[in-house]
Amino acid sequence: MQKQQELYRGKAKTVFTTNDADKLILEFRNDTSAFDGEIIEQLDRKGEINNKFNHFIMQKIEAEGIETQLIERLSDTESLVKKLDMIPVECVVRNFAAGSMCKRLGIEEGKALSPSTFEFFLKNDALHDPMVNDFHILVFGWATQAQIDEMKSITLKINQILKQLFDQAGMLLVDFKLEFGVFEGRLVLGDEFSPDGCRLWDKETRKKMDKDRFRQGLGSVVETYIEVAQRLGVKL
Ligand code: TMP
Ligand code: ASP
Repeated sequence: MQKQQELYRGKAKTVFTTNDADKLILEFRNDTSAFDGEIIEQLDRKGEINNKFNHFIMQKIEAEGIETQLIERLSDTESLVKKLDMIPVECVVRNFAAGSMCKRLGIEEGKALSPSTFEFFLKNDALHDPMVNDFHILVFGWATQAQIDEMKSITLKINQILKQLFDQAGMLLVDFKLEFGVFEGRLVLGDEFSPDGCRLWDKETRKKMDKDRFRQGLGSVVETYIEVAQRLGVKL
């Protein structure tokens, strides 16, 4: 597979075209951003760890019969993926209250949520990723009703799979964000799953083990990502 030109540079990953029009290469960089790109820092080894972490989680999801974008990991920081037509919304599931839910609704951090909640956000940094609902998505043509229904059901199914996986490794899956796209007419899980896009707390101590360490200046960001990977058995 030949890497060709840069197609898109996101906050933490760069997307390259390849000699196959249906395939792209994702490069996971060390850049770490918070507050919609307002703060960006390079954290040594973060790209490599997220690439390996993402590969591990996507394989677990595929093993449960859910199609993902990932084809194979090519190097420490690169993965080959299917070229999806991305849907510009983020799907967020929460098992415990944290982050924007606490700010928006005045809920205390750490409150267990039963049932788990599902929220859509528009992927738009300039607008600070505003929350949107099914009607907005339909009326502005971001996705069809069938795709909306499928994004919800797949995201909730992934929550069941990953909650158990993290629980067995001594962590609470507090919340996470997924993005989907369309490949040959099918809805497929895209983007990444890494500690950059979820919240993980130690089950006993509730130590934060995700990007909140960076957002909140708690330190030991990459060291903690490595601890999460090691607990799960991700080979680094
Ligand atoms: P929030 O509490 O800021 O709404 O975030 C909920 C979860 O989604 C949290 O694990 C972080 C993740 N997330 C992203 O990864 N990128 C984003 O742009 C947003 C809004 C959330
Ligand atoms: N992913 C967004 C950003 O980088 C939001 C966040 O993670 O805080 O700015």
